[in-house]
Amino acid sequence: MNQLQGEVISAVATSSNLGDYETTYEGFNWKDVEKEFSWYETGKLNLAYEAIDRHVDAGRGGRTALLYSDATRDEAFTFEELQHLSNKFANVLRDTGIQKGDRVFVFMPRTPELYVSILGTIKVGAVVGPLFEAFMETAVKDRLEDSGAVAIVTTPSLLSRIKRNELPELQHIIVVGDEVEPGEGIIDFKSAMAGASSEAEIEWVDREDGLIIHYTSGSTGKPKGVYHVHNAMIQHYYTGKVVLDLQEGDVYWCTADPGWVTGTSYGIFAPWLNGATNVIRGGRFSPADWYETIQKYGVTVWYSAPTAFRMLMGAGEDVISKYNLSSLRHVLSVGEPLNPEVVRWGLKVYGKRIHDTWWMTETGGQLICNYPSLPMKPGSMGRPLPGIEAAIIDDMGNVLPPYRMGNLAIKTPWPSMMRKIWNNPAKYEEYFRIQGWYISGDSAYMDEDGYFWFQGRIDDVINSSGERIGPFEVESKLVEHPAVAEAGVIGKPDPTRGEIIKAFISLREGFEPSEELKADISKFVKVGLSAHAAPREIEFKDKLPKTRSGKIMRRVLKAWELQLPVGDLSTIED
Ligand code: WT7
Repeated sequence: MNQLQGEVISAVATSSNLGDYETTYEGFNWKDVEKEFSWYETGKLNLAYEAIDRHVDAGRGGRTALLYSDATRDEAFTFEELQHLSNKFANVLRDTGIQKGDRVFVFMPRTPELYVSILGTIKVGAVVGPLFEAFMETAVKDRLEDSGAVAIVTTPSLLSRIKRNELPELQHIIVVGDEVEPGEGIIDFKSAMAGASSEAEIEWVDREDGLIIHYTSGSTGKPKGVYHVHNAMIQHYYTGKVVLDLQEGDVYWCTADPGWVTGTSYGIFAPWLNGATNVIRGGRFSPADWYETIQKYGVTVWYSAPTAFRMLMGAGEDVISKYNLSSLRHVLSVGEPLNPEVVRWGLKVYGKRIHDTWWMTETGGQLICNYPSLPMKPGSMGRPLPGIEAAIIDDMGNVLPPYRMGNLAIKTPWPSMMRKIWNNPAKYEEYFRIQGWYISGDSAYMDEDGYFWFQGRIDDVINSSGERIGPFEVESKLVEHPAVAEAGVIGKPDPTRGEIIKAFISLREGFEPSEELKADISKFVKVGLSAHAAPREIEFKDKLPKTRSGKIMRRVLKAWELQLPVGDLSTIED
């Protein structure tokens, strides 16, 4: 049990949008949220319209929607400008014949063009597939192939990672760059945009029509395409209000890349549905750069991740003292357990509680949170939002009493729940194997005040710097290396990254362990899959522990690593 449980930080005076919703907690009805949208009457909707055009129609088109900067650019866009640009891109897509339901991927760094591409894709009713720019060719190919993508928006430097001849369904490659080499199926983004009209018909879709596919990792098999629909906007809008606490005039900064769900649900949808000014900072993490961003734009609401906060903590207070961070009103975190120590540090150096939020790619939006009006227990993820019912259940589906550890489960449904795993109905069913519940794969317990405390993953999924990595995907790449016979991959606890990837490897005949070989194997994964999937540590073993059916027993590897008892070995090979 967590010894810190007695500690409660009461709400530091901050206004709370939960207001009306909170007083109706018992009788909470998602319909009351829906009624705030005009499509409630018609049933025809489009998330991109609600996020951008609606504000223009309501006379707010002149407000700043996007503040973008990186090392070479510094630009601002109003809602009206984003409306025109996303209309242009919608027309570019329509000219190629792209239609409602088609999968259109975006594979590029964070720039205004990325956001325009995503909005334009949604406007024509196509389904967006965001890819993180660090993905290498195998990772890109697996995702495009599985989803049957017909188009991809990318940059010249990433082009070589798209294996066109192995992707027969991929017809159009839209390249965002100053000099685009012509070629079959290649569309030059800039010239196509210049020639496109800034007026476009919006494709009005049904609430259950496709919006986005985020690929995410499980413990077995290739990455899963988590499919979300336009209806999710109800949750994005509501949590933007009651969890992000977005209010008139807020300058909001979510540090996540749209390649991950936080970067879309809370880097695009929630802020713009609420009409906030959205800050996007391109480029890599650096403490000075981040504080500079907060100061420069007067950021009021800041959403980041435990790894980042731990790195900022590591960078010390000197750097903080050089910047004026007094604009900050509300700070939030997601992705991994938020250490109580980090919460206390945040209170000391920023004068703000860092609010933990719990959710997953599959849930589409926040579910268990330290929302602003809730007294905070550092180390706890908070409580289920009004409208969400969570419980700890055992494998039979029995709801467990407070303090018992078990499966963290959510009562189905909620507006932003995933609607399928692309091409894999069996995987989808696994999440709902207990009638009436979504099984998250996390283990947790609840205290007597209804606060939830994260304990770990039930499967072998690794969480490194808030990024979810499937051990199977890394193992599959490792065994492609000529020296590797077998590989087992685990998450090893790390003070900054949460976990790092550690690989146990047995070598093929004729190969000898060496430091050079370790470096070469790690690089092989980095180049073939992606930098964040490359093992930071490798250990060679003569033999790996396996079940009789031949599965590598990662829990035994983990027990070795942590010097813990290995537990039940009745299924081991010999
Ligand atoms: C997994 C989901 C959706 C946001 C980004 C991650 C872990 C997420 C917390 C938290 C402890 C957390 C869980 C979850 N996780 N938030 N507040 N405290 N763990 O999305 O890649 O789908 O990963 O991240 O293990 O299952 P994701």
